[in-house]
This record gives sequence, C-alpha cells and structure tokens, in this order.
Amino acid sequence: MRVLVFGGSFDPPHRGHARLLAAAANRIRPDKIVIVPAYRSPLKGTPQANAKDRLVMARLGLLDPLPSRWRRICRIDAREARARRPVFTVETLGALKGAELHFICGQDAAASFPKWRNPSLLKSSATWWYGARPGTSARPPAHFRQIPGRFPAISSTELRSLLALDRDCSPELFPAVLAYINKRRLYGKEVLSVLKSTLSPARYAHTLNVASLAESLARRHGADSDKARLAGLLHDAGRRYPPHLLAAYARRRRLAVPERTAILASDPMLLHAYVSEDLARREFGVSDPEVLSAVRHHTLGARRMRPLDRILYVADAASLDRGHPSAASARALAFADLDAALKLCVAEKMAHAIAREAWLHPLTVSLWNCLARP
Ligand SMILES: [Fe+2]
Ligand SMILES: [Fe+2]
Repeated sequence: MRVLVFGGSFDPPHRGHARLLAAAANRIRPDKIVIVPAYRSPLKGTPQANAKDRLVMARLGLLDPLPSRWRRICRIDAREARARRPVFTVETLGALKGAELHFICGQDAAASFPKWRNPSLLKSSATWWYGARPGTSARPPAHFRQIPGRFPAISSTELRSLLALDRDCSPELFPAVLAYINKRRLYGKEVLSVLKSTLSPARYAHTLNVASLAESLARRHGADSDKARLAGLLHDAGRRYPPHLLAAYARRRRLAVPERTAILASDPMLLHAYVSEDLARREFGVSDPEVLSAVRHHTLGARRMRPLDRILYVADAASLDRGHPSAASARALAFADLDAALKLCVAEKMAHAIAREAWLHPLTVSLWNCLARP
C-alpha cells in the first residue's frame, strides 16, 4: 500500500499547504493519505494555537478542500498532536511501517532535514518530496524530489503576524479556517477585539500602524518581532480613558509615576503610558518585562532605553499615520540606524513641547542628554 504522509504544525493551515497536498496526491497517486499535525515541532517550538484547534483547522483547511477522489482516502492522524510532547518524524514513520511511505513537506522543512532525529534511518524509510516555495533560498538535500507545480509564497509565520495586525488574510486562508480563527479568537484576535471596542477608530488605526512598524524594525535589528508587535498593540491601551479618568486610575492603582504632580498640572494624558502598562499586565495578562518596559517608556523615554524600548519609541513617533514632516525621514532612518532615528524623534518631541512653552519631563531631558553625549 502506498501511503502519502503530510506532517507539519499547520499553525494555521493555508491554501499553499492545500495546493501542495493536492499536487503531491496527483503525482504520487497514493492508496491512502495521512495528515499528521504535530503537537510541537522539535525544531520550531511551541505552536501558537493548541493541538485541538489545529486538528480542527487541519480538517477545514487541508482535508475538506481536497478533490473528492483524494478526500475519500484521506484521514487526519491525531496521535502526534495528542502526544503532549514533541514527536520525531522517525517515530511517526516507524508506526506506519510495512507501507510504501511517501513523505511531503515544504521547502524550508526539507532543507532542515539533516537536523532531524536520525536522518540516515529516515532517509531509507520513505521517499521524500518537497514543494518549492518562491522567495526561499533554502536547499533541500539531494534525496528530496520536487513536487511539480507552483506553490504560493505563503508561510504560517507571516500569516500569524498578519492576523495579529487585523489584516485581510482571505486570499491565503480558506473561509472555514478564517471563520474558525475568528470564532475561537486565535492568533491575537482576542487582543484586537478588546482594542477595537475600547479605542477610537483613529487610535485603533494608529495602534496597528505602530505595531506593524515595531515588528518590522525588530526584524531588521534582530529583536523579538512577536514582542515588538505586542508592545505596539498595547502601547496606547490606556488611551481609552480621558485625562481625568487616567488620573483617577493612576491614583487608585497607586502607579509609580515619576513627577506625578507636575504631570497632573501640565498634561495628564502623559499618564497613559503607565496606565497602558498596567492594563497590559492585568487585562491582557502580559508578564514579559521587555514588553512592559517598552509600553511604559514609549512616551517619556528613560535614561536607559533597552532595544525594545527604542524600537517602540521610534515606531510610535514615526508611524505611518504621523503627519509631521520628520516622521517619514525618521521612519526610513530607523531601518538604517535606530539610534539616529531615536535621537531625531526625541529632538522633534522636545522642539514641539518647547514651541508650545510646555513643561518637559525630566525623563525626556535625561534621555536627550544621553543621546546627545559626545
Ligand atoms: Fe502613546
Ligand atoms: Fe501611540
């Protein structure tokens, strides 16, 4: 019996996966197809969606869209997903021994084959196939055969980021998968729905712009892009309150706000960064110190700014929706030289305050002095 095995995290499964599976079935002509969602890939780490949700999405996004002749012989194998531990492919194939096995995967996974558990035993236990993905230079080992066809340049990693930024993913995901993600509020949809219902439309749009820019800057500068996106999404969560409620919140929660009296007298809106940090912790369950620090420091800055603090400060000051003339140049500069962009953004903020004869918070002044030090 010829068995086609399709393993992966499927976090979430997309149209590229479905096209690859159908093309592989047409080429290999199996008697049986087994889709094996992993509990946790030994190489890729923990998926965002839990195993139960990924099993349902594998049915909606991989099995259901198959042409009927292949759907009839296809089943989803839940053993790996339910194992509650990473299962190596060598174990999965061992359980299917006796059949003529054909294993398919994407180009990136195929290229990582030498790092898989027991590659020499694996190599001889199946015929190996991969689907080429445009835009990747990863080279699979020579024993991999290419599945004929062109497959869209989609990756689940990119889709998770797009979903968390409220972008339209209908070209890449089947409607049933998208509906399931929305119903279960997976991939950051829970955070988006709270922000959407508490912020003004303009503030929500700004939030998405900041999160997107922070994520791109983090990628460019080798920081954690998931943390940067989350910090960007939550940085203005406190803006749901008008100034007098921000002041009441800070008092009630006894937030440690430096120069609180001067802030209350000059511009209580400056409290929103501290309130956003508190909301991030309490309402959104964030405990990561880097994310919380970036949210806290995005308005006033600090004497010592960590990499994520700098990224969020610049992303907030130079986001796409900022109208001032230096925003576009700061945005472009930030990809080449983050510190130079930070200096430009702080200078702009100070100049704006001075032009209005406004009080300057000592944290901003000390940040400027650190950046201006020869
Ligand atoms: Fe803000
Ligand atoms: Fe902001």
